[in-house]
Amino acid sequence: MSLLPLRLHPDPVLRIKCSTVETFDEALKLLAENMIQTMNAAPGVGLAACQIGREIRLAIVDPSAGEDPQALHVLVNPEIVEDRGRVFDDEGCLSIPGITEKVARPAYVRIEAQTLEGKPFVLEGEELMARVICHEVDHLNGVLFIDRLVGLRKEKARRKLKRLARSEEAVG
Ligand code: NI
Repeated sequence: MSLLPLRLHPDPVLRIKCSTVETFDEALKLLAENMIQTMNAAPGVGLAACQIGREIRLAIVDPSAGEDPQALHVLVNPEIVEDRGRVFDDEGCLSIPGITEKVARPAYVRIEAQTLEGKPFVLEGEELMARVICHEVDHLNGVLFIDRLVGLRKEKARRKLKRLARSEEAVG
């Protein structure tokens, strides 16, 4: 297993609508294992394939951040089929380090996805799990959490991103 380099905003790969996974082979399993290791090393609670430069509908979610093996799910071709309620809470992204803002997400979601073997399954999530699932499904559609900010929060994040970009230029 190996750690994969994370793609950071504004890398264009983060803006691509990722394509459906059709081949369920050993390479896909290895990629998922490496993504889990990369997510845990970050550490993070979710990771989408586009964040390591692969434009396919594969994401890992683990709201326990590596603490509870039961909380870890590999989602291939996930689709949100039901959502309910609305919760405002802090959200960040491994591809946008340095920014945390409150984002509205459903309090509950139900998704249909496939396993690494291509077997369909249904997964329900509430609160943080629902938030992580929505965040990762957004990634597969080229959407970032900063796109979902409104009003002053959006403006604040925009200014901070500019500042972060400038300080990166400064260090080369
Ligand atoms: Ni993210």
